[in-house]
Amino acid sequence: MREAIAEINKGLEDDIRAVGTVQDLDELKVKYLRKKGPVQGLVRALRDISPEERPNAGKLINDFKGSVEDRLCQLQESFEGEESSRRLEEETLDITLPGRRRFLSRKHLVTQMLDEVLDILSGMGFTVQYGPDIETDYYNFEALNFAKDHPARDMQDTFYIDKDTLLRTHTSNTQVRVMESNTPPIRVAIPGKCFRNETITARSHVFFHQVEGLYIDEGVTFADLLSMLEEFFQKLFHDQDTKVRVRPSYFPFVEPGMEVDVSCMICSGKGCPICKHTGWLEVAGAGMVHPEVMKSGGIDSEKYTGYAWGLGLERLLMIKHGIKDIRLFFENDLRFLEQFA
Ligand code: PHE
Repeated sequence: MREAIAEINKGLEDDIRAVGTVQDLDELKVKYLRKKGPVQGLVRALRDISPEERPNAGKLINDFKGSVEDRLCQLQESFEGEESSRRLEEETLDITLPGRRRFLSRKHLVTQMLDEVLDILSGMGFTVQYGPDIETDYYNFEALNFAKDHPARDMQDTFYIDKDTLLRTHTSNTQVRVMESNTPPIRVAIPGKCFRNETITARSHVFFHQVEGLYIDEGVTFADLLSMLEEFFQKLFHDQDTKVRVRPSYFPFVEPGMEVDVSCMICSGKGCPICKHTGWLEVAGAGMVHPEVMKSGGIDSEKYTGYAWGLGLERLLMIKHGIKDIRLFFENDLRFLEQFA
């Protein structure tokens, strides 16, 4: 009996050395512990043993059976131990590693400036209206009193889609649209994209943003326009000392027409490279709405008067932040954009 046990045990040890996976181990358990397996075979062999020796042999077999079970059980545990330490190893988090920054999107600086401008204007009683980027020659030029041979109407300066359709060159295109669908008092701010067929350089681009202002009512005067501009720019630059000055200029849709300058906020008017040592920065075009434009919009110019102005958002930003190249706004270079959180 001892020999038989030793024989089986040797086979078992050999088999155990060959075990590589949990599945091998399961097979081994079946092989040794099933009813028709070698251990159970020993029990059956007890029948051929003399009654005197049987109790002894029985005990040997029982002990052996116990030891096989223990052995396999141990093996199982060590397998599980290995498995869990392997997992621990694999799934370890190094909590000393610095965290990965989440990329938070933020508003483009042109949008930030637009929000600021509209915020101020809405505080001054202006409501926001929108016009189309793709416009007819009529609303962009004709209705605004542009002569047929005005240079802005040239293909050189304007992107035409066909003879009568173009990309708007200014937000003034929406003035007559607003007049057609409203009756005075009209007080609107019109933000939008504008397009001009220009050579792209540090100072000019084919694409930029404007905000138009339009106010029409009984008794609106040039003085109202000046005081509105002053209040607006003082709020925009957070500076009560910001001064506004106007120079005569020509736009077909206003009379009189003018360029608007503000005192340089960088040097407070003393003169610096940003204002080219003049102390003044050009920020807008403005004027009193031309009677011909009122007529296009179906508004009685005998009864009503109004003013309009238009400003470029990129221009304002270039002044405010000392940005020297307008192309930076549209290159989507994060190194640039991230500076304006
Ligand atoms: N539309 C003009 C421009 O683009 C600006 C302007 C608006 C001038 C309103 C006068 C009145 O330059």
